[in-house]
Amino acid sequence: MSDLPKKFRGHLVLLVCAATVGAITSITTAQEKTATASPQITFNRDIAPILYRSCAGCHRPGESGPFSLLAYADAKAHARQIAAVTSSRFMPPWLPEPGALRFADDLRVSEDDIARIQAWVQQGGWRGMPVTFRRSRSLLKGGRSVSRM
Ligand code: HEC
Repeated sequence: MSDLPKKFRGHLVLLVCAATVGAITSITTAQEKTATASPQITFNRDIAPILYRSCAGCHRPGESGPFSLLAYADAKAHARQIAAVTSSRFMPPWLPEPGALRFADDLRVSEDDIARIQAWVQQGGWRGMPVTFRRSRSLLKGGRSVSRM
């Protein structure tokens, strides 16, 4: 190494520096990515809209679901079960196989929403700010028409 031309050694040092800077930059961007990928998930902002759209039509008093999923306390009490049944696609039940056709009252929960529910449970099932969520009028009017897109 010592008898390498001076000029070449200079290049080598530069190369090592560049590699180090590269490595550091990629570590920081990776950290930033994780930080933005897992913001705090809250019931009011993230989870309630999913439950209202896909679950509360049955999971509310007077309907077929064995317990209500209208309020935070209900969802929190069943949080782990909710995460389990959505990821196994046991709930919502009795749907046509996912395919090209979309139904107006398609209750299916998206992969993103399933991940959101998982994250919510893992983070401890936060309630969140009440102002960020308004109950769907169509649901309160009754029936299974939770949402019409
Ligand atoms: C079409 C009506 C209907 C919809 C929509 C529905 N459920 Fe259910 N759910 C039921 C009924 C009926 C049961 C009880 C019978 C059973 O376990 O199959 C049940 C049971 C459950 C259980 C208990 C399962 C167990 O192992 O005992 C959970 C948890 C649940 N639902 C969560 C959800 C979630 C979360 C959604 C929305 C993503 C949802 N349900 C959508 C009707 C529904």
